[in-house]
Amino acid sequence: MNAVMLVSGRLTNFVDACYIVAGLLFILALAGLAKFESSKRGNAFGILGMIIAVIASIVWLVALPHYHPVALVLLFVPMLIGAGIGIWKATKVEMTGMPELIAQLHSFVGLAAVLIGFNAFMEDGAAASAFQRSEIWIGVFIGALTFTGSIVAWGKLSGKIASKPLAIPGRNWINLAIVVAIIGCGVWFSNVDGPIAWLPLAILTGLSLFLGFHLVAAIGGADMPVVISMLNSYSGWAAAFSGFSLHISVLTITGALVGFSGAILSFIMCRAMNRSFVSVILGGFGDAPMVAADGPQGEIHETTAADLAGQLADASSVIVAPGYGMAVAQAQYPVAELAKRLREQGVEVRFAIHPVAGRLPGHMNVLLAEAHVPYDIVMEMDEINDDFADTDIVLVIGANDTVNPAAMDPGTPISGMPVLHVWEGRQVVVFKRSMKPGYAGVENPLFFKDNTQMLFGDAKASVDAINAALPVPAAAH
Ligand code: TAP
Repeated sequence: MNAVMLVSGRLTNFVDACYIVAGLLFILALAGLAKFESSKRGNAFGILGMIIAVIASIVWLVALPHYHPVALVLLFVPMLIGAGIGIWKATKVEMTGMPELIAQLHSFVGLAAVLIGFNAFMEDGAAASAFQRSEIWIGVFIGALTFTGSIVAWGKLSGKIASKPLAIPGRNWINLAIVVAIIGCGVWFSNVDGPIAWLPLAILTGLSLFLGFHLVAAIGGADMPVVISMLNSYSGWAAAFSGFSLHISVLTITGALVGFSGAILSFIMCRAMNRSFVSVILGGFGDAPMVAADGPQGEIHETTAADLAGQLADASSVIVAPGYGMAVAQAQYPVAELAKRLREQGVEVRFAIHPVAGRLPGHMNVLLAEAHVPYDIVMEMDEINDDFADTDIVLVIGANDTVNPAAMDPGTPISGMPVLHVWEGRQVVVFKRSMKPGYAGVENPLFFKDNTQMLFGDAKASVDAINAALPVPAAAH
């Protein structure tokens, strides 16, 4: 064995070892991110894993026999530009804009997978076996699908594209025909020699781009949370196949972790929203007719912050059901203050969290943790849904779809989605600014129930006013 082979053998071992350590750190990161208490540690593991993976890749690049210093410039310049844009975006984004940013980032992963596939074929396409070519076309297929799907999801979330599902007649058959055509092109691509192989690759790329657009365009706005986590899963698979094409194990490991965790999250969310997982993957569940908000149905009862403060002081049990509006108003701090003060006065206060309240999984939990609401009074929907009937006052703060009893009836885009049974409370107070419907555009009969009172205004201003009006306990005088 000569010295060069020995060095390169040691280097390969070093780089492989780094990739394994990075992969383990990514697994620890996921485990840490599963709980709020350990999420910061999980994040730190993820950052460390990524630093190790990047350093190992650079060491590998520099040690390549045909290495030229220009390669480092070509690596670092885009990396620094990308990191700069990433840091700028991440510091600027509002919590409520997070799903849009995630959708944008998924689109980049998809595009990268397409470009990597093309590049792998350009580099050693002629010599590639049918198996290697299969890795390439599957990576390109998933990448292209993720790219356009994520762009449409971003457009729908940001309101740049109508959130109404696009219902082309026979769309499931169209999707099926496209998938069959893509597989046909893939088989053709894997078994043909010469430049003609670019033709099936180009056709399947075009078809995959269209499929991504069509699958997500067919899904209604209310189902976007599941779509986002599904695209997260797709972006993972695209990265995993890029890892195969580039022979980079850490990319394959990371892609598979993202792919599986995204799929599991989609599955959990589908269960929470009572949707069929298979029909989500096929882009076929946005087909319930959208019910237009057709104006008020009956009479509403209004209340004021001062009245409510008095009632809260007399209550023995209170449940807070927060939603997207609490995030918009940044009302979590005064809400936490209100909960603290009521608890100090002996009122039992708990929070009821719907799995898709807000705009991203765990949105409400993060906001409440930020405002230091104790974890043990923050309950999941299934833990608390039977307790509303024994509760004196339910405060619905900026939630709408997730507390809408219309979900229990057929014919609306949220039909079948389990909701918080807030209306069973002895008294319900809804904090919002107007009579507008929620995210899914469905009129909410909760507002017109006899035991419901509306407290109109910005949620933060309303809760601040309640805190100001809350009677000070006698002992504090
Ligand atoms: P939504 O149905 O979105 O309703 C939010 C309510 O907050 C609206 O009725 C709005 O009424 C009110 N609001 C907005 N700004 C406010 C402010 N400053 N002060 C007071 N109220 C304010 O909320 P939700 O119940 O949390 O449901 C979430 C919806 O988003 C579901 O349909 C879900 O499927 C969808 N979604 C969820 C996710 C995830 S993963 N969680 C991701 C994307 C979409 P006014 O305008 O009248 O004030």
